[in-house]
Amino acid sequence: MRGGGAVAATMVFLQFLFWALMLPSCFGGNVTYDHRGLVIGGKRRVLVSGSMHYMRSTPQMWPDLIQKSKDGGLDVIQTFVFWNLHEPVRGQYDFEGRKDLVKFVKLAGEAGLFVHLRIGPYACAEWNYGGFPLWLHFIPGIVFRTDNEPFKAEMRRFTAKIVNMMKQENLYASQGGPIILSQIENEYGNIDSAYGESAKTYISWAAAMATSLDTGVPWVMCQQSDAPNPIINTCNGFYCDQFTPNSNNKPKMWTENWSGWFSSFGDPVPYRPVEDIAFSTARFYQLGGMFLNYYMYHGGTNFGRTSGGPFITTSYDYDAPIDEYGLLRQPKWGHLKDVHKAIKLCEGALVATDPETTSLGSNLEATVYKTESGVCAAFLANVDSQSEATVNFNGNSYHLPAWSVSILPDCKTVVLNTAKINSLATISEFVHQSSIDDSTATDTFLSGWSWIHEPIGISTDSSFMKLGLLEQINTTADQSDYLWYSLSIETKGDEPFMQDGSQTVLHVDSLGHALYVFLNKELAGSAKGRNSEPKVSVDVPISLIHGRNKIDLLSLTVGLQNYGAYFDKKGAGVTGPVQLKGLRNGSTVDLSSQQWTYQIGLRGEELALSSGTSSLWVSQPTLPKDQPLVWYKTTFDAPTGISPVALDFSGMGKGQAWINGQSIGRYWPKYTAPDSGCTDSCNYRGSFSPSKSIMFPVRGCKQVKTS
Ligand code: GAL
Repeated sequence: MRGGGAVAATMVFLQFLFWALMLPSCFGGNVTYDHRGLVIGGKRRVLVSGSMHYMRSTPQMWPDLIQKSKDGGLDVIQTFVFWNLHEPVRGQYDFEGRKDLVKFVKLAGEAGLFVHLRIGPYACAEWNYGGFPLWLHFIPGIVFRTDNEPFKAEMRRFTAKIVNMMKQENLYASQGGPIILSQIENEYGNIDSAYGESAKTYISWAAAMATSLDTGVPWVMCQQSDAPNPIINTCNGFYCDQFTPNSNNKPKMWTENWSGWFSSFGDPVPYRPVEDIAFSTARFYQLGGMFLNYYMYHGGTNFGRTSGGPFITTSYDYDAPIDEYGLLRQPKWGHLKDVHKAIKLCEGALVATDPETTSLGSNLEATVYKTESGVCAAFLANVDSQSEATVNFNGNSYHLPAWSVSILPDCKTVVLNTAKINSLATISEFVHQSSIDDSTATDTFLSGWSWIHEPIGISTDSSFMKLGLLEQINTTADQSDYLWYSLSIETKGDEPFMQDGSQTVLHVDSLGHALYVFLNKELAGSAKGRNSEPKVSVDVPISLIHGRNKIDLLSLTVGLQNYGAYFDKKGAGVTGPVQLKGLRNGSTVDLSSQQWTYQIGLRGEELALSSGTSSLWVSQPTLPKDQPLVWYKTTFDAPTGISPVALDFSGMGKGQAWINGQSIGRYWPKYTAPDSGCTDSCNYRGSFSPSKSIMFPVRGCKQVKTS
């Protein structure tokens, strides 16, 4: 009996231990702060966080992504909440599948991680329209992100909706859940001058509104130097070591350390060397930082039409420590893990006292955290972008490579120098998988294709006529990327442009983002903008025929603006002028104010061809190639196993792809930057910026299965 009792007692104890290990360390803690950090359940913490946006991966991927984040040394998962994803129609909410925010937060908590919930609801994030639903734009009298009653009412409603959802599920740390931090607005301070005095009152209102929601955890505003109490203003950037919050009662926090950068169609893919990220991270903790978040830790994929921009690519890989497919990017992930370990070895000193920094020479700095009881941690930095150095610190000599920090958790022993990578540099590669023997694979694959030609010009009953040229986003309400502008002109043979045989030109000015010009149902020309300049202006040489001529302009958006003051007013589409030029007498004929016919979207969209079920699909031995506007369909067996799968779109033009009726995003392989590879500028030393031209060969998707 006694023996049995002892076994039972041991089991109870082990079980208790097991639960204690399983439970997130955040359970049951109010979150407060002081100038040395966030205080969770009475304990001041040094925290490392990473961004991953739940809707940019799949629920099947979440547990693995979260575990890999934890293994990489993160304490916190940070995510935005995108309003347009959850409320696509006003009052109709969607939290299913990839949008299951509650599930995502719970999974992070179950893995023992905290959560930073950035409700915004303006997010930026290279997400369509910065996260705002399109319907918001059509509310009478609304002006976004300023002291405007209709806007504030909607912003309050959505913010409260999310907060209440989290409360109902007991997800705030104050309720025993994992959420230790929230965010209201996003980087408003970068653009607030455009809103004049109303910016101030708006920010005060936003702060008071957020605080009144009573979450029991602090709110932050990033890049908002005038964030009112008790909101903590935080820093975003490639370096934040020099940042100081606007009050000595607030901790020094870095909400976005950009681990790479986003990619745009037509632009090189940015790559940020891990030595530089590690340097920026170590510098931040060296100079008093207590919370740092990598944006992104896993970037993921912009499925469907969710990417913003314009021109943001479907891949939101971001050169992050975990790549788009959920694989570890080495040595980035491993080296940062080592940095986090080294920082955590210093935690006892960091939470206990303020740092003291002294100069060890030009561009050389020692920072010491030392308590009265003798706990000591030190950082030695060489911020020179060229020269290495040897310094003397506490009687010992230390070698410091250029642009590096050494971490000494006992003020003596270097456990890590940020420029020295010890982790493995393995590179995962996709391998091509064909269903059968390679020599016959192509034929077999192609024979499975069928297609439908999309009509050129107006083809649906929902077309309408209007005098003049319409702005695209106001017209389509972003229901589709496509808007047709169609016009018939009669030429009788006596027009000046018909007489001298000289080349007539159709001139089109558009706010963007891409344009196809058809004359008499034939493609006559095209033009595209880019992220930095979405507008297009094109002169298309044309040959008009006697009699009736049809001009069809197909204007495309490629993700809506997500950044800048009044970003919703930037507009898109053919706002003109549209002119016929190249006339003998030098005159032009302006077509802009004619009666144009419009069609929102393609006929194939109206017929829901993406579901694949239409009876219109044609299967013939010759597949139409190099022709504009064709829908293609095929079926294939899913690769076996659970490894990440990608589709190879090389050889395609521009379009959107669906699998089993679900859009996996836009593709545009013909508009990728050249593979520039790493050049001399791969040197990690010195301040990084995306335009520093450190590029990686373009991350092409291969049709594949990992080996
Ligand atoms: C920041 C913004 C993020 C994201 C990032 C660039 O300014 O807060 O949402 O857009 O830039 O990736």
